Formats: sequence, structure tokens, C-alpha cells
Amino acid sequence: MKAKTPEQSKTILTDMVLPGETNPLNNLFGGELLARMDRAASIAARRHSRRIVVTASVNHVAFNRAVPLGSVVTVEAKVSRAFKSSMEVFIDVWIEDRESGEKTKANEAIYTFVAVDETARPVAVPEVLPQTELEKERYDAALRRKQLSLLLAGKIKPEDATELKALFE
Ligand SMILES: CC(C)(COP(=O)(O)OP(=O)(O)OC[C@H]1O[C@@H](n2cnc3c(N)ncnc32)[C@H](O)[C@@H]1OP(=O)(O)O)[C@@H](O)C(=O)NCCC(=O)NCCS
Repeated sequence: MKAKTPEQSKTILTDMVLPGETNPLNNLFGGELLARMDRAASIAARRHSRRIVVTASVNHVAFNRAVPLGSVVTVEAKVSRAFKSSMEVFIDVWIEDRESGEKTKANEAIYTFVAVDETARPVAVPEVLPQTELEKERYDAALRRKQLSLLLAGKIKPEDATELKALFE
């Protein structure tokens, strides 16, 4: 299976914030942003693997900035690392200034997707070849995040989280 760069899975979803999608403070409802991020990340994972993909876990979400009603929001997703059947997808969220067009980073998230066959059994995916410094940083830290996610889900024992343990040694 031929390895792919994160750029090959890049998915950009641009949309406005409409009144039905806001909380009482007139900012984008968190669940709506999670859904947009899930959609973009799912397409990125599909582009990387060319298989059916399912969300296995939402590993990290930071709602650092509120996104006001009427904002133009860009959700950018790229596969940062692939393991056997699972893929870590990094999502950056930007808001675009109406007048200058300048983009400000609002939020980010990390999701894990698994490629499956028609019977929902996990299948192998291509490796990721990071190119930029940021892609390399995200690639390098992905194994730690995978182990943390599996540990929190009760799928591995603390002693098997070797990359995580190495942080404290
Ligand atoms: C995700 C799913 C396919 C994993 O199935 P499973 O029986 O645990 O399969 P495995 O143990 O072989 O795990 C498959 C891969 O997922 C990874 N994985 C499973 N749970 C994970 C978690 N919580 N965090 C990170 N990775 C996880 C495993 O590490 C493995 O990765 P690898 O093959 O790259 O090493 C299965 O749990 C599933 O179908 N869940 C429902 C998905 C869904 O419907 N999502 C939408 C939510 S509404």
C-alpha cells in the first residue's frame, strides 16, 4: 500500500454560522462544531484510506474561542498519522474576518477513525509521510495520544502505554 502525505487527505469545509446553530449567547453551539469537525475528519480519513471509515474516538477538543453568529468558519482536517487500521486526524478551525479576509485560529480537535470493510471489520490503511515541521510534530506525538486514548477507554493496561510512560521517566 503506497504511503500518502497529510496534504493528500486535506479536507476543507467552509460554512456560515446560522441562527439555528447558536447558543443563548449567539455563539456557535459546541455540538454543531463537533459535527462539522466529524464530517471533515471523516472525509480526510476516507481520502487517506479509500475505505469506509468510522469515528472510533474524539481524543481532544479545545473550544478556545467563541464563534459568533454570522461567522464564516473553515474546518481543515488532515490525517496526521496512520497505524494498522486506525488514523489520527487533526482538525484546525479558523474564523475569517469579514473585511480583511484574515483568518484567526479559533479551535482545534483530534479524532481517531478506523477503516473497516463491509462487515465492519478493521482493515489496513496506508502509512502517512509527514512533510512540514508541523506535520512531523503531529506525527511524532500521535503514538502517545493513541496510547492515552486506549488507556482511557480501558483497552490497554498502564504498563503497555510505553510512549506515555517515557514522558515521565
Ligand atoms: C472503532 C471500532 C471499529 C474498533 O473496533 P475494535 O473491535 O476495537 O477493533 P480493534 O481492537 O481491532 O481496533 C481497531 C483499531 O482501532 C483502534 N482503536 C479502538 N478504540 C480506540 C480508541 N478508543 N482510541 C484510539 N484508537 C482506538 C485500535 O487501537 C486499532 O488500531 P490499529 O489497528 O491502528 O492498531 C469499533 O469499536 C466500532 O465499530 N465502533 C463504532 C464506530 C461508530 O459507529 N462510530 C460512530 C459513532 S456514532
